[in-house]
Amino acid sequence: MDLIKLTNVSFVYPDSTRALTDINLSIRTGERVAVLGANGAGKSTLFQLFNGLLQPAQGSVSVNGRVVEKSYLKEVRRLVGMVFQDPDDQLFSSTVRQEIAYGLINLGLTGDRMEQAASWALQVAGLEGFENRSPFNLSGGEKKRVALASVLAMQPEVLVLDEPTAALDPIGAAKIIKLLNCINGELGITLVFATHDVDAVPLLADRVYVMDKGEIKLSGSVTEVFARKDVIRAHNLRLPRIAHLAELLEREGQCRFVSLPLTIGQARKALMEQIAKKGINTK
Ligand SMILES: Nc1ncnc2c1ncn2[C@@H]1O[C@H](COP(=O)(O)OP(=O)(O)OP(=O)(O)O)[C@@H](O)[C@H]1O
Ligand SMILES: [Mg+2]
Repeated sequence: MDLIKLTNVSFVYPDSTRALTDINLSIRTGERVAVLGANGAGKSTLFQLFNGLLQPAQGSVSVNGRVVEKSYLKEVRRLVGMVFQDPDDQLFSSTVRQEIAYGLINLGLTGDRMEQAASWALQVAGLEGFENRSPFNLSGGEKKRVALASVLAMQPEVLVLDEPTAALDPIGAAKIIKLLNCINGELGITLVFATHDVDAVPLLADRVYVMDKGEIKLSGSVTEVFARKDVIRAHNLRLPRIAHLAELLEREGQCRFVSLPLTIGQARKALMEQIAKKGINTK
């Protein structure tokens, strides 16, 4: 069954800005889905519809097969864990532990059960030792992990992350990608993330929706989507850098690829195969 399903959804802000038009999208249990789009494409607006923070002007949003409406909001907020683009929009408590406890108390957890859930989330997010720090005095990357831990503590079925790698240094970005893959692979939590970081997409997604000007322009597996190079470029995006290099080598007649490599691992494998073949031919 679809965990999140949007059918013919449109959304208009109160100042009459039309942010989304006729969106059809579904997220299935266990998948890792990227929503890729340039600035202003509508990614953050879309995500706020997933957990009822915004309501569609037209169409419907369902979570676990049930349309999101007022009487279902509390349950939806537990099922769909939202990590905002800017952690400063999410964090408000005076210590990291209180930040994580807040959502758990709202869920009705107290005493040992609350403590256990909070400690688990702190450990998964690599925040042990940060419990008594003020979230406002942390670095951007640390704040992102606190926001993630506070959502994760509530054990959502799906984590919705708006720009999880934005504003992180290369090591910080690699760490969050590893952590999110672990959360998906080992805990079975479905992932949906918005990004314009095309290099992160093959490392963190199985499926991709490409958005532009409030519409979905393309969707498919990561390989299918990046094979549509012209469409990607027409919507102010680019190929992952390694795919661009492969494209140049192919154009110059240096190499031929059955499918465009999207990661260093894929490029290495394809190039090693070609080197080995050339070796055999010249003997
Ligand atoms: N509160 C608001 N009121 C009016 N218009 C808004 C509001 N928030 C966003 N918009 C508009 O809606 C459109 C989509 O914005 P949105 O923030 O969803 O894009 P985005 O894909 O998340 O962009 P970015 O990559 O810059 O975060 C843009 O045209 C934006 O100007
Ligand atoms: Mg955004």
